[in-house]
Amino acid sequence: MKELKFAVFGAGFWSNYQIAGWKELPGLKLSAICDPEQEKARAMAEKFGIPQIYTNPKDLLSNEQDLDFIDIITEVDNHLPLAQLAASRGINVVCQKPMAPSLPECKQMVESCKTSGVKLFINENFRWQAPLRRVKQLLDNGNIGAPFKARVSFCSGFPVFDNQPFLRTLDRFILTDIGSHILDICRFLFGEARNLRCLTRRVNPDIKGEDIANVLLEMTSGLHCYAEMSYASILEDEVFPQTLVLVEGEYGSIELCSDYTVKITNRQGTIAERHNPQLYSWVDPDYALVHSSIVDTQANLLQGLRGGEAETTGDDNLQTSKLIWASYYSAENNELVDLANFNHYE
Ligand SMILES: NC(=O)c1ccc[n+]([C@@H]2O[C@H](COP(=O)([O-])OP(=O)(O)OC[C@H]3O[C@@H](n4cnc5c(N)ncnc54)[C@H](O)[C@@H]3O)[C@@H](O)[C@H]2O)c1
Repeated sequence: MKELKFAVFGAGFWSNYQIAGWKELPGLKLSAICDPEQEKARAMAEKFGIPQIYTNPKDLLSNEQDLDFIDIITEVDNHLPLAQLAASRGINVVCQKPMAPSLPECKQMVESCKTSGVKLFINENFRWQAPLRRVKQLLDNGNIGAPFKARVSFCSGFPVFDNQPFLRTLDRFILTDIGSHILDICRFLFGEARNLRCLTRRVNPDIKGEDIANVLLEMTSGLHCYAEMSYASILEDEVFPQTLVLVEGEYGSIELCSDYTVKITNRQGTIAERHNPQLYSWVDPDYALVHSSIVDTQANLLQGLRGGEAETTGDDNLQTSKLIWASYYSAENNELVDLANFNHYE
C-alpha cells in the first residue's frame, strides 16, 4: 500500500480529533500543519509529532513536496479559497463540513477541483456513526419492508458555543452546522428528496443565527421525512451528540434510541440491539459516537484517495448542501421548495 502524504490547514478545536483519527489509520504521513496563529500550529505539531509548521498556506504548499492531499479544518469562510489553492497545485482536497458558506461557493469548490483534475471529499462523519450504519443495513435488508415515514431528530440544550465560539456570530447557524449532518443522514438513509418545507427560528438571544429548524422532506421514494433540530431544547434526557431516528415501514418500525440502542419492531414484538461506538484512547467518552465515526469516515475517504469508491465526494455533498440552502429559502419565503427546479441562491 502506497504511503499517502498530507498536510492540515487549521489547528483549532476540531483538528484535535480529526488528526487523532488520521493517526489510527495505516499508510499515512502527516508532514505539516498550518495556522495563521503560530502558537496553535506549534501546540498541535507538538501534540501529534508533526515535523513542520507554517502560518501561510501558500508557503506550506510551496515547501512541502509530493503531498497527496490536504485536510481543511478551518472556519467555513476559508474552505473555498484553501481548496482552490490546493487544487491549483494539483493536490487532492479533504474538507470539513459545511462545504462552503453559500450554495454557489459549494458549486465553485466542486467545479474548481474538477477543472484542476483533483479529488474533493467532504469529511461528513455523522453518517458513519455505528448505530446509524445499522439502521441503514436493516432498511437495505428489507427488515421493515418499504419505509413510508421517518423522523430524524437532533434536539439538545448542549452549550455548543463554549467549544466553538465563532458559531455565535454566524448569520445562519443551525442548518449550516448540525443541519449539514442531519440532512446528510436523511439522504444517506432514504435517498434524494423531491421537495421540502422548512420553518426556522431563533430562541437564544445571544446568538445571531437560527437555533431551531424543522424540515419536512418528501423523498423521491414518496417517504415523508421530518428532520428536526434544535440547540435550545431543555430536556429530561439530554442525549447530545446523538441523533435519534424513527422509521416506519409496511411490516414494522426501526427506532434508534438514546444509548446507541436500535429497536426493530414488527407484529411479533421488539428486538433491541446495542451498537456502541469504538472507544479509541483519545476519544472523549461523552462524545464517543461522533469522535469514533471520524475514523470510519477517514478510512472510506482514503479508499477514494487511493482510487476506489468513497461516499462523501464533493458531488455527493453538493446534494446535502442544496438541502441546506433550499431549507433557508423555504423558511425565508414561506414556500414549499421543488428541489428539481431549485435555483435560488445561485
Ligand atoms: N465533523 C464534525 O463533527 C465537526 C465538529 C466540529 C467542527 N467541525 C468543522 O471543523 C471546522 C473547524 O471548526 P473548529 O471548531 O475547529 O474551528 P476553530 O475556530 O476552533 O479552528 C479553526 C482554525 O483555523 C485557523 N485558520 C483560519 N484561517 C486559516 C487559514 N487560511 N489557513 C490555516 N488555518 C486557518 C484558525 O486560526 C483556527 O485556529 C469547521 O468547518 C467546523 O464546521 C466539524
